[in-house]
Amino acid sequence: MEGTGQSLYRRAKKLIPGGTQLLSKRPEFLLPDQWPAYYSKVKGVEVWDLDGKKYIDMCQNGVGACVLGAGDPDVDTAVLQAVANGNLSTLNCPEEVELAELLIELHPWAEMVRYARCGGEAMAIAARIVRAATRKEVIAFCGYHGWHDWYLSANLADDHTLDGHLLPGLHPLGVPRGLKGTTFPFKYNHLGELEAIVKAHGNNLAAIIMEPYRSKDPDPGFLEGIRAIADKTGAVLVFDEVTSGFRVCPGGVHKTLGIDPDIAVFAKSIGNGYSMAAIIGREKVMTVAQDTFISSTNWTERIGPSAALAMIKKFRKEKVHEHLIRMGTMMQKGWQDAAAQTGLSVHVDGLPPLAHFTVQTEHPPVAHTFFAQEMLKRGFLAGQIFYATYAHTETHVQQYLDAAKEVFADMVRFLGEGTLAQKLEGPVVHTGFYRLT
Ligand SMILES: Cc1ncc(COP(=O)(O)O)c(C=O)c1O
Repeated sequence: MEGTGQSLYRRAKKLIPGGTQLLSKRPEFLLPDQWPAYYSKVKGVEVWDLDGKKYIDMCQNGVGACVLGAGDPDVDTAVLQAVANGNLSTLNCPEEVELAELLIELHPWAEMVRYARCGGEAMAIAARIVRAATRKEVIAFCGYHGWHDWYLSANLADDHTLDGHLLPGLHPLGVPRGLKGTTFPFKYNHLGELEAIVKAHGNNLAAIIMEPYRSKDPDPGFLEGIRAIADKTGAVLVFDEVTSGFRVCPGGVHKTLGIDPDIAVFAKSIGNGYSMAAIIGREKVMTVAQDTFISSTNWTERIGPSAALAMIKKFRKEKVHEHLIRMGTMMQKGWQDAAAQTGLSVHVDGLPPLAHFTVQTEHPPVAHTFFAQEMLKRGFLAGQIFYATYAHTETHVQQYLDAAKEVFADMVRFLGEGTLAQKLEGPVVHTGFYRLT
């Protein structure tokens, strides 16, 4: 029988174009027609669907935002205090200043801070600041940075430019054609591609925008090479730490890589599920945010900075990154062991707290759909990604791995029989951006 979540989702698709507000929360990306789709309650890593069924989230945990686990008691206490004292006023909330001091203390190369509430908009602010600061227009970038025009304009030149930068098929429909030729992508660890952009556009290069780390280690000299190009051309180096920040140390992952940027952007994890984003940077660049207009009412509310202060203080005091690394490493090793023991070919990747795997078969999406389907039956929200949280325990990971091993073994058997696709009880997962109806 169809769950209440799936029938609600069918109604949603008629009312909400695309069904959800975030592409990767579409059930089509996780387990089409079978995913519970909506939650009634979430606490730590336990999630209840609309039919009261409980699952353990061994998947995205708020798409990487709930780094302490959902509804963390310390963060929620700070948020409730903000609510009790009033969330918005004619006056500003003092938490903004305390948070700026804390972020700068954690990143001593930075001197000034601006805030937003979402990762993509914070990256758009960074893109505006770098263009304003340098009076130049071209941005060289690597990886995914949100939905805004500055970024999607890369696909005006060629509909596939952004493929390989996380999500294939992102259409720039509605992005003014006048932005064509203002952003150019390069691949991680391919310094030559950046050098080619510099050769063609070096005089007009405003910034290099990239995640300092995502799924691969930087090759020796890669980040140093990036820094040197930024220094030589006068381009602003921006590290997008929206996903990588507060995973392997208290602050940006760049602190562990030995290269300082000129701007770093945080979102997701700093609010532990409450909306918060911060753009931190060197004074000479950040101060230009006064000369261009960057301003919004809800960037002044109190819940976001209160949540971020509580989250960062707890993260630092309890060395949360050590737990995240331990959980992620156990998961990555567990996937590899389960694969070796069952004879399934699996590729494991990512920073341990942002771990993921891919089944190496002729049709990986079929294997990934089967995995999510069978893990759901066993009480786990599971996909190819495991975002570790402070609320995960070794028991959660071990129980998940025991179940995953059974599913891997079934997969090997059905792949051998050539019947895996027939075992799917719904459509195969989507792997890129498609129109739903
Ligand atoms: C590296 C990176 N930048 C930017 C974003 C966009 O953030 P948001 O979804 O909060 O707008 C994401 C989201 O996944 C991200 O991973």
